[in-house]
Amino acid sequence: MIVIDGVDGSGKGVQSRRLLQSLQAQGHAAILTREPGGSPAAEDIRKLLVTGEPEKWDDMTELLLMYAARRAHLRDTVWPALAANQWVISDRYADSSRAFQGIAGNLGLDTVERVHDIAVSEFQPALVLILDLSESIALQRAEDRGGSENRFEKKGAAYHARVRDAFLQIAATDPARYRVIDAAQSRDQVSRAIIDAVNQRFELTLEPTTTGD
Ligand code: TYD
Repeated sequence: MIVIDGVDGSGKGVQSRRLLQSLQAQGHAAILTREPGGSPAAEDIRKLLVTGEPEKWDDMTELLLMYAARRAHLRDTVWPALAANQWVISDRYADSSRAFQGIAGNLGLDTVERVHDIAVSEFQPALVLILDLSESIALQRAEDRGGSENRFEKKGAAYHARVRDAFLQIAATDPARYRVIDAAQSRDQVSRAIIDAVNQRFELTLEPTTTGD
């Protein structure tokens, strides 16, 4: 399982679709999924999380909903795909809970880890790519995209600055599992950096895809 994570508006969507194409172009069986969501039941929970006003849920309720969705996603999508020898690319995973609810949201990392242990136990992705971008550029990009799934964007710039720092802090704890990618580069440069990281980690010879976004 390869996770692409980072601040809102960092380009995870495009880059995870490109990575999927790069894997499939060389005949690797792979699926693309996302959190919150990624299975029919988890997508139902996603709707509760991403719409409405920021105060609708407090950090703890948010965390519990994220983990309810995550467990459904793992059971119904991720674990069956891995058991069938497929690559799983996920647009966000547990580090979003650590960064958003744990560190930026003031629940604290320990609380997230306790819930994580109960809901997920030992399972870990093999590689996590953190797309790093200043919160001002990221929020502008997310705003330009528009849409109604903007409950998190409405939490403001200071919150998102803490989220960015949180991802960097988490990545520094385990350099073998995490790679930080500068997402202020062009899309094609980001794709190249992602492919380099994946090739290095898994001894592959993938080529970046730069079309079909
Ligand atoms: P996402 O669909 O990735 O939104 P975007 O495409 O705008 O980046 O995620 C929706 C929001 O949910 C996003 O603002 C981050 C937040 N989130 C958490 O707070 N905790 C989590 O565990 C996850 C997976 C997402």
